[in-house]
Amino acid sequence: MSSEKEIKRVTTKTLYLLKKKGIKISALTAYDFITAKILDESGIDVILVGDSLGNVFQGNDTTLPVTMDEMIYHTKAVAKAVSRAMIVVDMPFMSYQLSADEGFRNAGRIMKETSAGAVKLEGGVRVAETIKKITSAGIPVMAHVGLTPQSIYLFGSYRERGRDEDEAEEILRDAAAVEQAGAFAIVLEKIPASLAKRITESVAIPTIGIGAGIYCDGQILVTPDMLGLNIDFHPRFVRHYAKLADEITGAVKDYIEDVKQKKFPSEEESY
Ligand code: KIV
Repeated sequence: MSSEKEIKRVTTKTLYLLKKKGIKISALTAYDFITAKILDESGIDVILVGDSLGNVFQGNDTTLPVTMDEMIYHTKAVAKAVSRAMIVVDMPFMSYQLSADEGFRNAGRIMKETSAGAVKLEGGVRVAETIKKITSAGIPVMAHVGLTPQSIYLFGSYRERGRDEDEAEEILRDAAAVEQAGAFAIVLEKIPASLAKRITESVAIPTIGIGAGIYCDGQILVTPDMLGLNIDFHPRFVRHYAKLADEITGAVKDYIEDVKQKKFPSEEESY
């Protein structure tokens, strides 16, 4: 049953149409109910339950320790808050690298146990078979090429990818391969804007950039980074839209002071 008040969900088709119309796609990460609710009510198009939660939520140096159970736990909380945005869930390290069948099984588990709309996995040519298998079961897949953090030990650093022509050609081949395999969108991470432009113009599916310049069809940032909560992390591609760490520090200091000075709670705040 549909009612006039029903909110229209963002789907893969919506994103495709946004690209076609030249309207940019907005995306942010969320790992919990309250943040997801704020993002959704603000009108964000895509909420990614990113494995970046391994860094910003769990305090790890890399995303590698994140497990399937943790991704599912966080996605369930996010899904309860969201009525419009498309929820995309990162497939964690080693949930799809072993084989296409293993990836297929784990993508199915994410879709069955959460209310997500899609999964995301990292890689290009080497994961094309897995993407084909997952999409053949009707599960939308967002791909992720360029700097892929689950391969950090292979790359050796978080420097941008695709600066030299060989690496740029490899990333172009990766983008073509994931589109061919059936991905509905591609995250382009930390590559030159000129390369992101070439990719964006060469694929029919939307590209969503992070540190990939203005020509992508959309942009994504890690929410605690853009809100200025993660103050020790400020690469040049992150714009701080707020300074929440400062705000929270001020609020907590005020609270401590009030408690110590017996100014909180007041009579009105007591029963
Ligand atoms: O895990 C994540 O948050 C991501 C974004 C950086 C795209 O993959």
